[in-house]
Amino acid sequence: MASYLETAAEIAHEAGALLATYFERRVTFELKDAFDLVTEADRASEKLVVERLRSHFPSHSIVAEEGGGHQGGSEYCWYVDPLDGTTNFAHSYPVYNVTLGLERNGEMVAGVVFDPDRQEIFTAERGAGAYLNNHRIRVSSTKRLEDALASTGFPSRRRHLSVNIHIYDQMAMATHGVRRGGAAAIDLAYVACGRLDAFWEFGLHPWDMAAGTLLVSEAGGRCSDMKGEPHGMPGPHLLTTNGAIHRETLDLFSEIFRGQFRVPIPTI
Ligand code: IPD
Ligand code: CA
Ligand code: CA
Repeated sequence: MASYLETAAEIAHEAGALLATYFERRVTFELKDAFDLVTEADRASEKLVVERLRSHFPSHSIVAEEGGGHQGGSEYCWYVDPLDGTTNFAHSYPVYNVTLGLERNGEMVAGVVFDPDRQEIFTAERGAGAYLNNHRIRVSSTKRLEDALASTGFPSRRRHLSVNIHIYDQMAMATHGVRRGGAAAIDLAYVACGRLDAFWEFGLHPWDMAAGTLLVSEAGGRCSDMKGEPHGMPGPHLLTTNGAIHRETLDLFSEIFRGQFRVPIPTI
């Protein structure tokens, strides 16, 4: 298994270096859908990652965001987000990453998130812990929601239908604050290393969270859906925390789902 993770880390470094060259040049964007951006950097990174994976692991399946994957014959499947944080990237906002997660028979077994801007590589292997630049990481020890720093994300597609603004508001009132970093895999990596205590998002794709959920689990945190059911890929709705504040967060979510707001939203 070590060779899978090592190879994934090498590929992520290579793709991240490529992304950084596009970032310096500033790239223009196209729209895949209303407000759903893609750039030539997304496509170039995906081409590189898929080529490398196919040459190292020809029998493995690959699911990649921009459609460059392929169906292999083995029980292994790679989830690839060649550029997570495209909207940030297209605006020269330096929060983005490349992430690869490996699933075997429905279970995540290895994952990498590489942030070229900070030169931070987050890696995890099932049963072997989570690491940041080869140093072991653990989730935070925050015990109460009121002492937590959280993060969330909002979908690009059909964003006018998202209910998340209500949860954002209540969580912002219940915690030290809620960030919106714009790159889900980095949010997850930050829960894993204790920079964040919680992250949630509705409607994520498997490539956004494949590596990140393994990082959080291996760092001692917890991943579930919004009702507390264990999170199995490819469930789209994800709540991750350091574990200690999971129950309290779920209780708050459950109140919101029932239409009960602890702090009323002020009217203008
Ligand atoms: C997006 C980012 C964002 C999240 C969106 C994702 P992309 O990924 O992770 O933070 O809120 O749901 O789609 O499109 O930049 O790879
Ligand atoms: Ca993504
Ligand atoms: Ca992407």
